[in-house]
Amino acid sequence: MQTNSWVQLFPEQASSFAWQVDALYFYLILISVGFTIPIVVALFVFMVKYREKAKFDTGAEIHGSIMLETIWSIIPFIIAMTIFLGGAIVFFNQYTPPQDAMEIYVVGKQWMWKIQHGTGQREINELHVPVGRDILLTLTTEDVIHDFGMPAFRTKVDVVPGRYTKVWFHATKPGKYHLFCQEYCGLNHSGMGGWIYVMEQKDFDNWLGGNASQGTPVEIGKDLFQNKLGCASCHAGGPGQRGAPLENIFGKPVKLVGGQTVTVDDNYIRNSILNPSSQVVEGYQPIMPTFKGQVTEEQLNGLVAYIKSLSGVTAGSTTGTTTTNAASTSTTGGGNSNAAATNSMTPPRADRGNPNPGSNPNAPAQNSNR
Ligand code: CUA
Repeated sequence: MQTNSWVQLFPEQASSFAWQVDALYFYLILISVGFTIPIVVALFVFMVKYREKAKFDTGAEIHGSIMLETIWSIIPFIIAMTIFLGGAIVFFNQYTPPQDAMEIYVVGKQWMWKIQHGTGQREINELHVPVGRDILLTLTTEDVIHDFGMPAFRTKVDVVPGRYTKVWFHATKPGKYHLFCQEYCGLNHSGMGGWIYVMEQKDFDNWLGGNASQGTPVEIGKDLFQNKLGCASCHAGGPGQRGAPLENIFGKPVKLVGGQTVTVDDNYIRNSILNPSSQVVEGYQPIMPTFKGQVTEEQLNGLVAYIKSLSGVTAGSTTGTTTTNAASTSTTGGGNSNAAATNSMTPPRADRGNPNPGSNPNAPAQNSNR
């Protein structure tokens, strides 16, 4: 939050690893300044000291110094290694999500962020999270590459069509923080942002209670799996099924036709739904049809969440103390006035079979006479 009138050099530090990023950055600045000043000073001193005093003056010949060359190789080597180590530590912290993080799904599209909570609440261009909890975002996009940027948390991640990327953070103080798209994605890229509201747990529970659940991702996925898409007719489990079993597979290796072994993760499940013949489980026939174009990204998130739940993975569990639907009296962050409006989302498919091509000024013209 902007607390003073003059322009801030850095955004607020609001996540557990924000200080680490800043410390590394200041270290880099320190090193740069530490080298720049002596070099510039020496430049001027030498300019005066070794200027040409007589016409056609020649300098003394120097035949090298092992000592000098060793020193100017080893010192920069040590400095470079400290930068590498610092960077590696920060990188490791940022890209190793904790096990029991609260999972939230994010779908980007030109030009908005659609967010789906594990408890079924949805929002657009706003993200409400509790303070002091590990939050894991699983992100994908319907159209082009975007980038989910959270400056106050000192983290960001590219959001790539056709796959899931992940980013996690641990917000350390309640407040309202910027959310930006940080990858140029077309005409309204600069407007593709919003706010992250970090709330005390009880305010967050109130917020959840005041926003009707639209069906949790697991429920949405289960309905698709058992009824709408008919996955259960082959994958219901039990002996003699045509489809590979889906119980207790998540996080485990699975052997594929062709001898390859892959670990079952979000991207494997996603790929198995959209490109089923590309990774067929050993002992099964490549008979599954593709569901490409038949499910939205939100529905895919649901299917993935449901199939994960068959392995007992329910990272989407939110609070454990979700309050009932008492009237929302949330004040922290103060931004759910338009939450009701954001709850009625029926996302059109922007990438395939877009019924309204005019909505995307970057889309190639249809019916062109090519
Ligand atoms: Cu989305 Cu830039």
